[in-house]
Formats: sequence, C-alpha cells, structure tokens
Amino acid sequence: VSTGGVTDQILEAMTSPVAVVTSRSDGNLNGMTAAWMCQVSYSPVMIAVSIAPERYTHELIIAGKVFAVNLLSEDQAHLGRHFGFGTGRGNDRFSGIDHNACETGAPILNDCYGYIDCKLVSTFNAGDHTLFIGEVLKISFDERKRPLIFNTKDFF
Ligand SMILES: Cc1cc2nc3c(=O)[nH]c(=O)nc-3n(C[C@H](O)[C@H](O)[C@H](O)COP(=O)(O)O)c2cc1C
Repeated sequence: VSTGGVTDQILEAMTSPVAVVTSRSDGNLNGMTAAWMCQVSYSPVMIAVSIAPERYTHELIIAGKVFAVNLLSEDQAHLGRHFGFGTGRGNDRFSGIDHNACETGAPILNDCYGYIDCKLVSTFNAGDHTLFIGEVLKISFDERKRPLIFNTKDFF
C-alpha cells in the first residue's frame, strides 16, 4: 500500500492528539513532537508511541527506559512545530521553555493540556518506526484546557 492521496485522507480519520514525547538518560534530556500514539491496555494502563529510529528521542528512550507524553493544548501548535523539526541532538530544545520532572525524570512541559509519565515495558519493530509501550505511572491534566488534535495543515 502506498500512501498519498486517498490513503492519507483515510488515515487522517484515525485522529490523534499532538504531544511532545520526552525522555532522559543520565543527564541528557530531549523531547520531540509525536502524533502516532494510543492507549493499548486498561489494567495496568499502558500506552504506545511510535518513534522512528533516527530520532534522538528514540536513543534516549532505549537508554533511559522512560518517557513522558506531554499532550499539547489547542493553543500550543507552536510548541508542536518547535519540537517537530530538526533534532535536539546537540541542541537544547528546552531553552526558554518552562519544564520540570515527575516520577521518571522525563521532562514535563508546564502549561500543557496534560501529561502521561511512563516506564518503558516493551519495544516492537514496526516498519520504519519502533513501537514503545509504556506503563503509566502518573497522569495529570488541566480540565480547563482542550487538547490539540492533529491536523496536517497545522504543521505541513
Ligand atoms: C505534527 C508532527 C507529528 C510528528 N509525529 C511523529 C511521530 O509520531 N513519530 C516520529 O517518529 N516522528 C514524528 N514527528 C517528527 C519528529 O517530531 C521530528 O523528527 C523531531 O524533530 C525529532 O527530534 P529528535 O531527533 O530530537 O528526537 C512529528 C512531527 C510533527 C511536526
């Protein structure tokens, strides 16, 4: 199956939020924008994120075995663009962006819609991406905000 045209249109019906997936290993922190993610288990609660092997964040998740999904709010598409192009390798993407850490030490962006802090429990190859499954350790969200839902025209 090739993507493009009608295939892209159909896949867009599989809506997803826009998040900044962060990780840490030793003293190194990074975050990148991701839209390919979903819940995969209820008890315990687990989520999956799909990350390409060439991403610096991929390297940190493998090494640190933790990640956090920072769900952006509808007025934060600019953060999605900030973390969504180029790479954080050798470049501090958090400079000037308020963040802290929670259970796992993966960066939590302040003022997001919410976050899901996870420990890595499984890793699967998925074509040109890797599926990371995380067990959720902590969740928080701001019920006054609304999540940003991925729409191609906001980013590409
Ligand atoms: C809206 C949007 C969604 C994205 N979703 C994904 C995704 O689900 N998985 C992925 O591997 N890359 C995704 N990317 C690309 C990465 O965010 C981008 O390559 C990033 O700069 C990698 O940073 P890093 O090398 O510092 O980890 C997305 C980019 C944008 C703008």
